Amino acid sequence: MPNDSVILGIESSCDDTAAAVIANGKALSSEMASQRIHARFGGVVPELASRAHQRRIVPVVRAALRKANVAPSDLAAVAVTRGPGLAGSLLVGLGFARAYAFGLGIPAMGINHLEGHVFSACIGQELPKSPWLCLIVSGGHTQLALVEDGLTLRPLGTTRDDAAGEAFDKVARLLDLGYPGGPAIDRLAAQGDPNFHAFPRARLAGYDFSFSGLKTSVLYYLNGLGDEKRAALMQRRLPDLCAAFQEAVVDMLIDALERAMTETGVREVHIVGGVSANARLRQRAKTLGETCGVRIRMPQPAYCMDNAAMIAFAAHVRLAAGQTDALDHPVMEPNLALGTFA
Ligand SMILES: Nc1ncnc2c1ncn2[C@@H]1O[C@H](COP(=O)(O)OP(=O)(O)OP(=O)(O)O)[C@@H](O)[C@H]1O
Ligand SMILES: [Mg+2]
Repeated sequence: MPNDSVILGIESSCDDTAAAVIANGKALSSEMASQRIHARFGGVVPELASRAHQRRIVPVVRAALRKANVAPSDLAAVAVTRGPGLAGSLLVGLGFARAYAFGLGIPAMGINHLEGHVFSACIGQELPKSPWLCLIVSGGHTQLALVEDGLTLRPLGTTRDDAAGEAFDKVARLLDLGYPGGPAIDRLAAQGDPNFHAFPRARLAGYDFSFSGLKTSVLYYLNGLGDEKRAALMQRRLPDLCAAFQEAVVDMLIDALERAMTETGVREVHIVGGVSANARLRQRAKTLGETCGVRIRMPQPAYCMDNAAMIAFAAHVRLAAGQTDALDHPVMEPNLALGTFA
């Protein structure tokens, strides 16, 4: 298969049904149907998610092909997320992709969702020169990894409890800000004072992270106020509280990144996943890069959260590297980890 082949990407690991077309490493389209139904439950309900994927997968794929002005017969491969994710949700994407590829007589490629995130800041751009650091900060993962050579990746650290995005979501729930909570906290924090309260920053050995203590500390802080003061705070100082919490998360991420940059001597760092959309994190990362003379890349906003362009692009990277081991008969692996790029 030529490297510049046209690839259809499909992503259905959680609550977004997404399809995209990539040609020669450039995104021609990236379509997404998000599921609002989960908001009222404060988190994703797996059975509802898989049913919604089933209803949406065909229209979303059609829209992606139409926007890209590509016919099914132009496709060289179908890339699909095979894990990690919700089993029922993954099955819808995998089942569709395998059947669609079979019908067209082209290969289906199973892609690790995290591998998609890892390369999401490079879509339409050149790949970094190895070695480079990648910090994944998403709803389910917080991982720092060194990409040593092409697709060879060495995990340096991970969260021991909540993921960074999960911490945003859980604190947002404490503050009645809805789900997902990251964007709401980000918006409010923009008008708040990060020095309003000093929440604790966990610093573990190596590059591991911990966010559950911070979340509990926000809970204890709110409980300690009593009903009247708490109501007043929610009315008048909510932006300050959001800014103080957000600053603690960003401090922990930037601290680990800075230490890893010094120790590895890399010239390039990528920050990817839903939390990489956070305005304060982006600002602090930019400043860190400028101070240290290291190139920092973060995905364009549409590619921070789950999307299918990153899945198709990861397939493109694999093919460009001559790796075709992910071809055909992709099997679902809900617990797939980073570091197993196969
Ligand atoms: N601006 C923001 N600031 C902080 N967090 C954000 C922002 N935007 C989104 N998030 C968080 O990003 C997370 C979603 O990211 P993403 O879609 O990458 O995660 P996921 O796919 O659910 O998890 P994973 O990729 O680990 O399986 C949510 O937790 C959400 O609150
Ligand atoms: Mg994701």
